[in-house]
Amino acid sequence: MIVVSSKNELRQQIKEWKQAGETIAFVPTMGNLHSGHISLVTEAKKHATKVVVSIFVNPMQFNNPDDLTNYPRTLEEDSKQLISEGVDMLFTPTPEIMYPKGLDAQTFIEVPGISDVFCGASRPGHFRGVATIVNKLFNLVTPDVACFGSKDYQQLQVIRLMVEDLSLDIKIIGCDTVRTEQGLAKSSRNGYLTPQELEVAPLLYQTMKQLARDVSGGMAIDKAVSNATLTMNESLFTTDYFHVQRADDLSQPTDNDSELVILAAAQLGFARLIDNLVFTR
Ligand code: PAF
Repeated sequence: MIVVSSKNELRQQIKEWKQAGETIAFVPTMGNLHSGHISLVTEAKKHATKVVVSIFVNPMQFNNPDDLTNYPRTLEEDSKQLISEGVDMLFTPTPEIMYPKGLDAQTFIEVPGISDVFCGASRPGHFRGVATIVNKLFNLVTPDVACFGSKDYQQLQVIRLMVEDLSLDIKIIGCDTVRTEQGLAKSSRNGYLTPQELEVAPLLYQTMKQLARDVSGGMAIDKAVSNATLTMNESLFTTDYFHVQRADDLSQPTDNDSELVILAAAQLGFARLIDNLVFTR
């Protein structure tokens, strides 16, 4: 696996590959890789002849400095995993490389509307940071396809909208969430959970499934959401939100909309867990 940190080295290698007729699949990450990330690499391999992964803990998408400082950085273990998965190139830039003028002087990408609700409301500026770094990485890697996890459903829709609005010629592939046997979505943030919290954590997915059953069975969304919130708050969780939205643009569903998504966020100890469930009613 080729490992590069500089933009020029990355561009040079990509240019050589493209001249040789290779196609590029890209998996952007913030590292601390788990089986969810590996499933993105596996999917990426199906769509191109070369797979590029980036590891960059993007300061622009953190609105809490402690969260940024404490974000797990495990580059050595991550590299080993990527080598054994047959990744062709790993891009590991520093903040100085990605933001040479500093964050405040950086041109940014803002996807309006969708960036300000749900996770965007709880974490102001988060999706601006995500859209900006993903766009910068796309401009450097110039991939044919890029793979993202569906666990961060709102992020995936923000990226899809950005690609559409800016006419980027990149196919975005949303990959299924990888879960533990008990249903907990794999996430770097699970590392913050104590053994007791890890036992409780699958309740989030179970509660979402019940919420989906209730709404599909005809229960009013408000009532089903308040039941779900109650179930969660009787445990160690503190619910941030459950929202039932239209699956495509996350807008408010009408009675006629059948493709829906549950978006959920809840605090468990030090970890803020997010998850989602797409369903048809
Ligand atoms: O999902 C992530 O890990 C990050 O938000 C991403 C897409 C790599 C951008 O920093």
